[in-house]
Amino acid sequence: MTELLDRHRRVMGDGAPLFYDEPLQLVKGEGVWLEGADGRRYLDLYNNVPCVGHANPQVVAKLAEQAATLNVHSRYLHDGVVDYVERLVGLHHDGIESAILGCSGTEATEMALTLIRGTTGKRGIICTDATYHGNSSLVGRLSWLPVGTERSGIKSISTPQLFRPLDAGLSEVALLQLHLDELTGTIASFADEGGFAGLMLCSILANEGLPNPPAGWFAEAVGLVHDAGGLVIADEVQAGFARSGSWWGYETSGFVPDVVCMGKPMGNGFPLSAMASSHDLITEFRQRQRYFNTFASSPLQAVAGDAVIDEITNRGLVGQVREVGDRLKASLTALQQDHPRMGDVRGTGLFIGIDWVYPESNNPDVDGAGQVVEALKSRGMLLGKAGQHGNVLKIRPPLVFDHDNAATFLSVFRDIVADAHS
Ligand SMILES: Cc1ncc(COP(=O)(O)O)c(C=O)c1O
Repeated sequence: MTELLDRHRRVMGDGAPLFYDEPLQLVKGEGVWLEGADGRRYLDLYNNVPCVGHANPQVVAKLAEQAATLNVHSRYLHDGVVDYVERLVGLHHDGIESAILGCSGTEATEMALTLIRGTTGKRGIICTDATYHGNSSLVGRLSWLPVGTERSGIKSISTPQLFRPLDAGLSEVALLQLHLDELTGTIASFADEGGFAGLMLCSILANEGLPNPPAGWFAEAVGLVHDAGGLVIADEVQAGFARSGSWWGYETSGFVPDVVCMGKPMGNGFPLSAMASSHDLITEFRQRQRYFNTFASSPLQAVAGDAVIDEITNRGLVGQVREVGDRLKASLTALQQDHPRMGDVRGTGLFIGIDWVYPESNNPDVDGAGQVVEALKSRGMLLGKAGQHGNVLKIRPPLVFDHDNAATFLSVFRDIVADAHS
């Protein structure tokens, strides 16, 4: 292991990110289970990309069959590709009619930002102050952008949240208004700075740490953007494909976007992403940008994507995710009553965050959260931590995670939380 780690650092560069004090070497995955090089099995509560399970036999078989038949780039007609994109946009609301495939979430979000700027002829983009939408030179400018600063026509608004509210003295209704006023002011600030193009939002505020905004925030914010002539991009790269217990995070959060970005779980690990919108906006984008992507819109991508939709549909995973997630969250919320380090339990479907805090102050306890993650690993459970302060335990297993898996996790988690409070 040490030798492999040394070689990893030498050849991949020092600083290439690896989880855990002692990085984990994996050799095999099946369903919700991962196997280490030491022969240990780990329950996977972290990985959202293999959404229909590690090494899913249906996806593997379809990929193998297609790879042995044909794989070409997008400048030829292929019925499988057209069938897949039709099926994909058909899963969305009526305004989503056409899509452009890519290979990463970053490509999808980059296309979306370029689309809204091109369509509106305006430059100003708004995001939250604790977000991540990808790593290109354009999209990377949205990452962790402090309120009150500006990066090339991009500004942020405070992440709306009830647990650590912007102003603790306000009622929920007043807090909602404070956030909406901030958005209105930020939109207005673009008036002399290239105008306002739109808002990009993760539909469930995943990288922000899954905060609960004041009730109605999503729909009201979207209304303000539209009133100002802007467009709304829903980043569904984490939120989409049943993760929140609906097909799309924007359904769970109650708003209707103009543009949608998808990625991560879309191909169960085969690189596949998409940016989707109305037929008119996609057509205009294509005419302006002449977008081409060597590996995208291939027959191989189409079979991977199609097999994922088949699995989610045939196995009833949207409903399963909702049920398993609801019950798991209820158990964690019950556990929280006696364990004040679990400051807040939130999220929907199979994406649950536990805000790990110092009990007296409710301040984020990043080190404590890290210790829980390490302790869980030593007991064969893998999860991560994330959020605005890096202290939110992130439970985000493959969608096929079931009630038995949840019970297995809870039995270990209860011990670890008890130890942390002893
Ligand atoms: C919400 C969100 N959008 C976009 C991306 C970028 O996706 P990718 O890493 O595939 O470029 C990420 C990656 O973590 C993400 O979390």
